Amino acid sequence: MSKVTVVGAGNVGATCANVLVTTGVADEVVLIDIKEGLSEGKTMDIMQTASILGLNTRMVGVTNDYEKTANSDVVVITSGIPRKPGMTREELIGVNAGIVKSVTDNVLKYSPNAIIVCVSNPMDTMTYLIHKTSGLPKNRIIGMGGALDSARFKYFLSQSLNANPNEIEGIVIGGHGDTTMIPLTRYAAYRGIPVSSLIDAEALKKIAADTMVGGATLTGLLGTSAWYAPGAAAAQVAAAIIHDQKRMITCSALLEGEYGEKDLCIGVPCILGRNGIEKIVEFDLNDEEKELFAKSAAAVHNTNAALA
Ligand code: NAI
Ligand code: 2OP
Repeated sequence: MSKVTVVGAGNVGATCANVLVTTGVADEVVLIDIKEGLSEGKTMDIMQTASILGLNTRMVGVTNDYEKTANSDVVVITSGIPRKPGMTREELIGVNAGIVKSVTDNVLKYSPNAIIVCVSNPMDTMTYLIHKTSGLPKNRIIGMGGALDSARFKYFLSQSLNANPNEIEGIVIGGHGDTTMIPLTRYAAYRGIPVSSLIDAEALKKIAADTMVGGATLTGLLGTSAWYAPGAAAAQVAAAIIHDQKRMITCSALLEGEYGEKDLCIGVPCILGRNGIEKIVEFDLNDEEKELFAKSAAAVHNTNAALA
């Protein structure tokens, strides 16, 4: 039996749970929130689609009752406050650090073997906090950010090419922040054809810039941060683990010398399978990309310092 718990039944958590249930990723999905009745209500609403959509997943919604999350294979943490227009992800650190720490302690009490997927922002720092406080091995702590940022990159590329986003390859590495993420335009491709031979340099620069502020653009439009793609991206990471897919997805992982960095969590391509992060894939960056990655790492270290 496979079981995924999603902590936080807000916009991202409920969307993630909905995708997990509608795509049949796990046998059981538990949605848990601190707010009385919220998880129960969202679970009832989602499960009332079961006979319409032909769903077979069992879903349980609970208020703060961690016993119900026992023996989860994967726990996705989305609890915390989201950014409002004009706010950076980094400004959320004070409130979210307390929430992420207490949630992690609670879930591990009942699911000591779970793999943790951290979504709460500032995500790279929250993922690092879990490393520092949980004692879990590094393969079992995964930050979700690059899956979303890469999907946004592919979206903007597909719009420019008037193409199917499924036929676009694109990868975003670095921190999950407006100024720290690095869309690797040099490696982006449309059915194997480098996009640099299909899109002019100026337009490619704009696509990279639009990707970097993709979250802020949506926060401005929606009045709060986005949820459909973030929830789906978190479910994609959970699915890669539950189904042992060995997919390469950019995730925030603890670096111990890879890409010349250590003692931080930051977005790098990871092979995800039943053991969580099974491998960090290292590939050649040119001088400019190396410099951007070093700058991004310095910014993430700086945010991490606020944890002390
Ligand atoms: P939201 O406000 O809709 O939902 C957050 C939920 O967490 C609320 O229902 C709240 O009651 C719950 N919560 C708060 N403290 C809790 C606790 N101690 N235990 C259990 N539940 C608790 O926020 P939204 O939009 O779902 O965003 C959630 C987080 O995810 C934010 O920090 C946001 O910045 C982050 N985010 C990260 C992304 C990424 O790519 N890493 C993308 C989008 C959002
Ligand atoms: C996003 O990228 C704010 O992290 C959130 O939408």
